[in-house]
Amino acid sequence: MSSNQNQYDYWNGEIATNWLKRLEYFERGFSGINAALMAFARLEPGMAVLDVGCGAGTTTEEIAAAVAPGRVVGLDISKPLIEAARARASGAAEYIEADASAYPFTPDFDLVFSRLGLMFFTDPVKSFANLRRALRPGGRLAFLCWCPQAEICYLWEPYQAAHDLLPVLDPTPDNEPGPFGLADRARTACLLQEAGWHDIRIARTTPPSLLGITPGEAAEQVMNMGPLARLLRQADAATTAKVRDRITPVMAKWHTSGGVVPPAACWLVEAFA
Ligand SMILES: C[S@@+](CC[C@H](N)C(=O)[O-])C[C@H]1O[C@@H](n2cnc3c(N)ncnc32)[C@H](O)[C@@H]1O
Repeated sequence: MSSNQNQYDYWNGEIATNWLKRLEYFERGFSGINAALMAFARLEPGMAVLDVGCGAGTTTEEIAAAVAPGRVVGLDISKPLIEAARARASGAAEYIEADASAYPFTPDFDLVFSRLGLMFFTDPVKSFANLRRALRPGGRLAFLCWCPQAEICYLWEPYQAAHDLLPVLDPTPDNEPGPFGLADRARTACLLQEAGWHDIRIARTTPPSLLGITPGEAAEQVMNMGPLARLLRQADAATTAKVRDRITPVMAKWHTSGGVVPPAACWLVEAFA
């Protein structure tokens, strides 16, 4: 049994199917944070890169193109997502279905990379120490994770607008395994230090997130993300419609000629092995 059993169950269940169904929307929303992370990663031809929590492999394929003729391996705990990555693959990347906390890494890589894939560990110190084993001497860790949930305005404000219609939030609190598991910057630095990493640098970034062309489309996307997605899973059609009506005007406040584009709030984290 994995030490990350809850996350194993979560990422091998309904969430993976939903993620794949809405992949195009997630990717569109992530384009700003992706650009910030790719610049931060400083990819160069010839590098060997491990993409941890690679999901359906979008970043892995982008890395493969940037580091050719180098090597990239995408690793994820979710069978459906790794299967989707393999099905979409160009052939330039390898994919492994495994738990990053326990996989027996050998020092084959120059860079351990992750876009939103490292916040879910039950034992972050043990897991970050395990990831260090994947790096050659002098190797670098570069990843992106969410800031505290109250700072992600497009999740928090709609939740505030609609929460009285929904059951009390069964929270995935900040700094517990889950999307906001590395929300606290000082704590993340301590965890990495304890796991043996050095020269740790953590910078805040607030790139735009395109949630939809219209406020209605953005509301639909937000209802499939974060706390609202969890709460609406059990909701009946009437409640879902009421939530949509409450959220759509909230989305309108970020409506521009380019669509609904609120800022995200993320940490860019770097450390050396
Ligand atoms: C928010 S998704 C991000 C996916 C992808 N990096 C992206 O940006 O599209 C988080 C991913 O981390 C994976 N994950 C969670 N815990 C993991 C673990 N212990 N080992 C490997 N992958 C894990 C999940 O299965 C999921 O694919």
